[in-house]
Amino acid sequence: MLTTNSFEEQENPKNSPRIIAVANQKGGVGKTTTTINLGAAIAERGRKVLIVDLDPQSNATTGLGVSAGDVNISTYQVIIQENKVSDAIISLEAENLHLLPSSLELAGAEVELVTAFSREQRLSKALDEVVEAFDYIFIDCPPALGLLTINALCFAQEVLVPIQCEYYALEGLGQLVGNVDLVRANLNPDLEISKIVLVMYDSRTKISKQVADEVREHFGDRVCEQIVPRSVRLSEAPSYGQPITIFDPTSTGAVAYRELAKEVLNE
Ligand SMILES: Nc1ncnc2c1ncn2[C@@H]1O[C@H](COP(=O)(O)OP(=O)(O)OP(=O)(O)O)[C@@H](O)[C@H]1O
Ligand SMILES: [Mg+2]
Repeated sequence: MLTTNSFEEQENPKNSPRIIAVANQKGGVGKTTTTINLGAAIAERGRKVLIVDLDPQSNATTGLGVSAGDVNISTYQVIIQENKVSDAIISLEAENLHLLPSSLELAGAEVELVTAFSREQRLSKALDEVVEAFDYIFIDCPPALGLLTINALCFAQEVLVPIQCEYYALEGLGQLVGNVDLVRANLNPDLEISKIVLVMYDSRTKISKQVADEVREHFGDRVCEQIVPRSVRLSEAPSYGQPITIFDPTSTGAVAYRELAKEVLNE
């Protein structure tokens, strides 16, 4: 997926992108899969997309074909060492798709941020110089409600929450909602949970339907109509460094994320 390492700000002067944090402090619920594939599906529809990997695990980075070892300037250097973000952004092979990669060093940021100046707003300040160059910015959050996720919530206007259609899916969701409320009240008045996406849906199981019903009852029309089914191809794509739309464009996963893209774009 990797083509160039230089990012030029040219198009879309004075654009204000939709900035969407993909968050859920539960681990392994489909945050990264949704960030990569929804981002790629929106890029495919002609919007300029930046994916920000804010997780030290660097799954979005490797899942998009960039080896963490090849990354010289990552989210870590950008938010902690104040490197220029335009030097860190990588243009991927897929048209309109760009990545601010992560690296393992980001694991240290959670501690380093505690005593840093303006610790909740490091990400928004660092990305300020490039926001106008994009139509959509997706932030892949780590599975925690620490300062990295708070930085994402301060930068975004919207939170997209993937919910895995499995047991305990709703556990901890109250905490996430509480954190979003706190950030809205104190730091970012525009923030809202705008989309809930049901993922890993297995139509053969009762629990999938139960979770979907319960989530719809609770969150109403914020829950996307389109459900992402459980699909082996979706779990295979990252090891090829490709979004599902390129890895297997006709698979059920690719179709689902394309439909989801239309919904998120309001088309
Ligand atoms: N719809 C799906 N069908 C099948 N497998 C999926 C699907 N969505 C995600 N997976 C797989 O489930 C695992 C967890 O997904 P993912 O990495 O996207 O979750 P995450 O919330 O980002 O995890 P973490 O909290 O560790 O960052 C991965 O192995 C991924 O390939
Ligand atoms: Mg992840």
